[in-house]
Amino acid sequence: MKDKLIIFDTTLRDGEQSPGASMTRDEKLRIAKALERLKVDVIEAGFPIASPGDFEAVKTVAEAIKDSTVCGLARALDKDIDKAGEALKPANSARIHTFIATSPIHMKAKLQMEPDQVVEQAVHAVKRARNYTDDVEFSPEDAGRSETDFLCRIIEAVIDAGATTINIPDTVGYNLPDRFGALIGELIERIPNSDKAVFSVHCHNDLGLAVANSLSAVLHGARQVECTINGLGERAGNASLEEVVMAVRTRQDVFPCDTGVDTTQIMNCSRLVSSITGFPVQPNKAIVGANAFAHESGIHQDGVIKSRETYEIMRAEDVGWNANRMVLGKHSGRNAFKTRLQELGIEFEREEDLNNAFMRFKELADKKHEIFDEDLQALVTETNLASEDERIKLVSLKVNSETGETPKAQITLVVDGEEKSMSAEGSGPVDATFKAIESVVDSGSDLLLYSVSNITSGTSSQGEVAVRLRLDDRIVNGQGADTDIIAASAKAYLNALNTLMSASDRKHPQVVDKV
Ligand code: KIV
Ligand code: ZN
Repeated sequence: MKDKLIIFDTTLRDGEQSPGASMTRDEKLRIAKALERLKVDVIEAGFPIASPGDFEAVKTVAEAIKDSTVCGLARALDKDIDKAGEALKPANSARIHTFIATSPIHMKAKLQMEPDQVVEQAVHAVKRARNYTDDVEFSPEDAGRSETDFLCRIIEAVIDAGATTINIPDTVGYNLPDRFGALIGELIERIPNSDKAVFSVHCHNDLGLAVANSLSAVLHGARQVECTINGLGERAGNASLEEVVMAVRTRQDVFPCDTGVDTTQIMNCSRLVSSITGFPVQPNKAIVGANAFAHESGIHQDGVIKSRETYEIMRAEDVGWNANRMVLGKHSGRNAFKTRLQELGIEFEREEDLNNAFMRFKELADKKHEIFDEDLQALVTETNLASEDERIKLVSLKVNSETGETPKAQITLVVDGEEKSMSAEGSGPVDATFKAIESVVDSGSDLLLYSVSNITSGTSSQGEVAVRLRLDDRIVNGQGADTDIIAASAKAYLNALNTLMSASDRKHPQVVDKV
């Protein structure tokens, strides 16, 4: 019997800390349900003290998720732990994850605390968390740059205090695989009560080594890996869940453990996270990139036709690639539409949202005869985004683009109930469209990112556009999909503006007060 490798997904917490990736409660719930279908063991749903919005999101996920453990993050502070405990009350299985920094630089410059005080606060936090649940995880933040002797001391103390998982974060992505693996092995060996806890790792990707460091740690005894879908996360991101899971699954000759993940759900989760956050997946990304299983060279194609193992180490279908299977078309009825959404794990709480989505589906099917799963995902994201209280709505868009002429866009919007039209010129049709929108709205925001990708293949595919805007200290993403990429761009820009303008109490997790 092999050991179980626990998969702890932090897409909804660390992933959300990517600039512009903050998610609404409903978006988090949709991703959490997809993660449950993926059969991850633990879902870190958020940081309940960060804002009332995040508290609600963690609580909603805790109410809905039955099979995975739901976890909330808390600094080693009473108020954080109490908030996490409260948010997690409805969970079938709840975990509190508490942390305090242990590296010399963090203790001195950030916490301004002596090591003895840090140990005392960590022990106190773990004991307090145990009042809410028996499942308590402790992280010595910046462990990757902490002194090993100090790590041994604090970890022994928190295990005695009741911590059941010890997570070793490489917070700044500084470590190298052989040394990081050796550190985990040394901790497990030197800490006298290490057998009373599961050792976990949480690696950041600043040097592109998050997955390699995590796998090396597993080979040295770690039995939990913290990771995110598509490697989303702070700065360069976290270890990518799909890469960790597939490396362990594919190299069972090397790993003494395996995960319980249903790998056929990987693509579904990847697309969902990309579409909700507006973070596109690079085509050459391992496992989930559009080219991950594409064989271009003649020699490779020939080899794969003769025997797929010549060049393929995994099967595309095992990670949920279904080769753009046509699922629905113009003549599909409401029932077929609803059934296919259910197969994708998508359910609408309100009948009117389903009706709205079905109406959009019919409009799309008129323009594009074959509707794929990817189109349905984008359509549902768009339906969820189009909330009743949107302040700006698109009425019409007309764009002129002609060789030798300056592109011009004419747009009509309804802003706070009032219809307004404007036109503008730009260096290209998208530039003209954004300028026309701004001449109506005058948001004062800066455009940080504009990206277009095709949802499926071919020129009849829908274009999916992501836009990132910044206004003062708020960064938001917007998404739009359409067979017309100028229209998709306008939708994405308006979606970002609506988010920017919505009254929000959601602070970015990094903005919470210092410990
Ligand atoms: O990177 C990190 O150190 C973290 C901790 C909160 C575990 O995200
Ligand atoms: Zn992190």
